[in-house]
Amino acid sequence: MIVAQNLTKNFGKVEALKDISFEIGRGEIVGFLGKNGAGKTTLMRILASYLSPTSGKVLIAGKDIARHSLFARRNIGYLPETPPLYTNMTVREYLKFAARLKDIPPARLRPSVDKVMDDCRLRYVQNRLIANLSKGYKQRIGIAQAIINDPEILILDEPTSGLDPVQIQQVRKLMKDIEYKRTVLLSTHILSEIEQTARRILIVNRGKIIVDQSVKGLLGQYPGLTLEDIFLELNPPQAERADD
Ligand SMILES: Nc1ncnc2c1ncn2[C@@H]1O[C@H](COP(=O)(O)OP(=O)(O)OP(=O)(O)O)[C@@H](O)[C@H]1O
Ligand SMILES: [Mg+2]
Repeated sequence: MIVAQNLTKNFGKVEALKDISFEIGRGEIVGFLGKNGAGKTTLMRILASYLSPTSGKVLIAGKDIARHSLFARRNIGYLPETPPLYTNMTVREYLKFAARLKDIPPARLRPSVDKVMDDCRLRYVQNRLIANLSKGYKQRIGIAQAIINDPEILILDEPTSGLDPVQIQQVRKLMKDIEYKRTVLLSTHILSEIEQTARRILIVNRGKIIVDQSVKGLLGQYPGLTLEDIFLELNPPQAERADD
């Protein structure tokens, strides 16, 4: 479903991604782990076709997304690390705007917005200005815009970051509901979240993939250790660098 071929990304002298390749099958749920600055967001932005790689390519269902950007936009829902919410709009206005950006035909706009507001439990706040909502609601609006066109692939960059424990549970439950029949890539720093949601783990370290394995397989390889122990063992603290 998703094929990453020899992806590299340089920001000036910083090599954010170094020759990354992998394949993700239809319906897989994959967790991206890695320390701050490892390259997760850069990788997810490239997979979502929001950023071009310096070299390498991404194929979705066999198509190069650099050449089929409309196809990519239709099939990928993306929740960026900081969702680009227009805070002077109401929730309903913003979701309608997001639906238009995704080429949803005019006759389908209202039903699509209504459905996604029900799925993400946003009806209650539909006429509130986004600026005045709590972080948890904003995150749910970010997820709502990602799924509004019912994409087959979902790329979620730290969907539960900064939320309180109750909101984390709610967003996780929402993710359980929406991941059915989809291919999902998510990044998180909450390791228990990976165990609860993902079946496969990719650990990124300084722009390279150092682990690509099933959660079960990885835990089985280190008997008696938790995912957190394993993560710390594989990502030892190093001297800080300006590009970390
Ligand atoms: N637009 C940019 N310009 C310059 N450098 C960048 C840019 N975006 C990312 N980088 C650099 O690329 C590297 C990878 O950053 P990235 O945001 O992908 O990491 P991350 O794994 O998502 O980290 P975090 O866990 O903190 O979100 C870092 O060294 C970062 O400083
Ligand atoms: Mg990031």
